Amino acid sequence: MGEKITLSVIKADIGGYVGHAAMHPELIAVAEEILTEAKKSGVIIDFYVGCCGDDLALLMTHKKGSDNEEIHKLAWETFEKATEVSKKLKLYGAGQDLLVDAFSGNLKGMGPGYAEMEFEERKSEPILVFLADKTEPGAWNLPLYKMFADPFNTAGLVIDPSMHDGFLFEVHDLIEHKKVTFKTPEEIYDMLVFIGAPGRFAIKYVFRKSDGEVAAATSTQRLNLLAGRYVGKDDPVLIVRCQSGFPAVGEALEPFSFPHTVAGFMRGSHHGPLMPVSFKDSTPSRFDGPPRVVCLGFQLAEGNLVGPRDMFDDPAFDNARKLANDVTDYLRRHGPFEPHRLPLEEMEYTTLPQVMEKLKDRFSEE
Ligand code: F6R
Ligand code: MG
Ligand code: MG
Repeated sequence: MGEKITLSVIKADIGGYVGHAAMHPELIAVAEEILTEAKKSGVIIDFYVGCCGDDLALLMTHKKGSDNEEIHKLAWETFEKATEVSKKLKLYGAGQDLLVDAFSGNLKGMGPGYAEMEFEERKSEPILVFLADKTEPGAWNLPLYKMFADPFNTAGLVIDPSMHDGFLFEVHDLIEHKKVTFKTPEEIYDMLVFIGAPGRFAIKYVFRKSDGEVAAATSTQRLNLLAGRYVGKDDPVLIVRCQSGFPAVGEALEPFSFPHTVAGFMRGSHHGPLMPVSFKDSTPSRFDGPPRVVCLGFQLAEGNLVGPRDMFDDPAFDNARKLANDVTDYLRRHGPFEPHRLPLEEMEYTTLPQVMEKLKDRFSEE
């Protein structure tokens, strides 16, 4: 095609149904209506409105690049319109992720999370979009490491000459707002020091080392750090390009056969397994969890999103779901004890300051 396509995946929690468990179909309908108009008027090439749990995700293709004002404004206005419906239905937490009153410039710091990538569409362009609920951006670190740096997961790293050089990982420090790029495989030990701490360091992009082609992009917004108060976990998204020099679709899905432990779950303050589920099962209801991930598969055709296929709607992931349920049973029995409950400094909200204040006169030197 010669001209770059941009895929923007922009998401927000603008109201849950019931509580924080799922998406009301009317919100999807409003978003589809607005994006259909935007497609007709040529602002976007194509779109799909997806969801995971209580998060609405707008998948849009266009030629305007990342961080584009018009595209971000379209997403913001779509969320605003859907919030009106959410308020009418008195859905829970209506408009909660829209942290500011008015849009200005781009979505940075405004609440919604987004992952975007620009590339020239290949002869065939299989793309996976992962959407998670009840967890944080660093939840993608382990699966991305496995997809792009672990030969026990991705056979192509060993036997496909176009992947054999390895990949570059751009890692962001979400607290200090710094970034660093690691070369793999040669720097995996250094990289693991950081990405093994997913509450602070999150992989933002993966690029192919041989030609710099973008392979994966994530959303890394930390809502509570932005808002300075508890607004729920960030519920991140991830885009992965597959096949012909990138991980095969099956290699990109394989890491999710292990439901690794992530932070989030009830009140954004517990550890739990990330359960891969079909679209219809992306409704975290037990203890507001366990955290979920869905995967939407598309073939791109001149920017059109052919799909989605419900990639985790496959009995091959039944064992992962069973293990996630067993791990949930095990962790739940810890009740308010760590490591089920997050350490004090990582909890999204806590009564500690109030309890400390109440008891301050009762503490004495030991
Ligand atoms: C987790 C989440 C929920 C809520 C919980 C309490 O990210 O959103 O687990 O934290 O349902 O919600 P509130 O405080 O609104 O009653
Ligand atoms: Mg919510
Ligand atoms: Mg959510």
